Amino acid sequence: MHGKIFMSFHYKDGYLYCEKMRVKDIQEQVPYSPFYLYSLAQLEANYAAYQEALDGLDSIIGYAIKANNNLTLLKRLSALGSGAVLVSGNELQMSLAAGFDLKRTILNGNGKTLAELSLAIEHGVLINIDSEFDLAHIQQTAKALDTPANVLIRINPGVDPEVHPYVSTGMKNSKFGIRNERLNWFLDEIRKDDLLNLVGVHCHLGSTIKKVRIFRDATEVMLGFIRAIEAEGFSLRYLNIGGGLGIDYERTGEDIPTPSDLIDSIRDLLPEDLTLIIEPGRSLVGNTSVFVNRVIGVKTNGNKHFIVTDGSMSELIRPSLYDTYQHIEFIEPVDGKPEMYDVVGPVCESADFLGKGRPLPTPHEGAGLVVCDAGAYCHAMSSNYNLKMTPPEYLVDGDSFTCIRRVETLDDYLRVFEI
Ligand code: LLP
Repeated sequence: MHGKIFMSFHYKDGYLYCEKMRVKDIQEQVPYSPFYLYSLAQLEANYAAYQEALDGLDSIIGYAIKANNNLTLLKRLSALGSGAVLVSGNELQMSLAAGFDLKRTILNGNGKTLAELSLAIEHGVLINIDSEFDLAHIQQTAKALDTPANVLIRINPGVDPEVHPYVSTGMKNSKFGIRNERLNWFLDEIRKDDLLNLVGVHCHLGSTIKKVRIFRDATEVMLGFIRAIEAEGFSLRYLNIGGGLGIDYERTGEDIPTPSDLIDSIRDLLPEDLTLIIEPGRSLVGNTSVFVNRVIGVKTNGNKHFIVTDGSMSELIRPSLYDTYQHIEFIEPVDGKPEMYDVVGPVCESADFLGKGRPLPTPHEGAGLVVCDAGAYCHAMSSNYNLKMTPPEYLVDGDSFTCIRRVETLDDYLRVFEI
């Protein structure tokens, strides 16, 4: 492994710390449970790891806003120089509010609306062409605005990312990207249109990828496409290889590639005149946060033992949706009888769990429990199911913390019915 992963969450005397703050002390001061807690130092270290990895390369780091759209975190990333990767008009508006340079921003998506395309073209955002109809919509919008659009073609390189099928996105039967066999048709259409500038190619293989060989294989395939497109008379500037680098959710001691491992695996392939775009989401924000809960109670049914927490699938759905593992631990000393526990929430649904079959000591009521690595696709995928309110978010910076998103209240929620 190249480049050590900085860890701002750590244990001291049986208590979990985030940077210099004891998470239990924060839990006692925060007036709501559950909540998300972030480390600013971790975010900065993760961004620096990408910057270091890309040293000497012409490149754009496009943070995939879908992973976490907290405005304070977005502002931090834009201040660090990050570009942004968008999948909706609202994400475009958020990136404007956060101060991202929209010229270093890419709009993805297999179902972009005309309104979203207008916004993107007006702001000079790079746009990925996803299908025949998407190209027609981009052409129609550029014409209506009489403004040129800089486009990339999203190609499915057909390299298996070896991940859960729900997060595999670059295979032949994916709902994303063009049919490769139609490439020349796309090139002909683009050539005929004075308002379209073809500036590059894009792919995104999938998410939670743990082998850099997969990125290298895809880069080789994509460079083949670039050569084929340039042979048709185009001159391309960008190779966008998407995001997808995995993080160490399981904590089994397995070697997880770092950003440097990823970039070093493809560096020798990259021609000097190309700008590399990468689109990390999870590997920038995943390990910046824990989801902090309180234990409501402990129960046993049949041969199953349950820890019931106040957090649930409404605030953190990844385990229920993908049957995925996120590490769970207590934030304070707990010394009850060790059992094999399912950690479940109060939502009226058997799919509501945060972790299954975890060897944990039996906690007292009110004990603090965290779901780790909760910075990516956790708060962003929360819902109001069972009328659970969107949880608040707090940010630690050294020895202090601030609220970076207040809790949603029932009054906020009721307001949408004032019609
Ligand atoms: N670029 C594109 C075109 C994408 O579709 C995605 C993620 C990314 C970049 C960022 O990928 P990352 O570096 O974060 O892996 N909700 C799922 C993950 C869905 C990812 C969707 N696309 C989860 O919780 O695991």
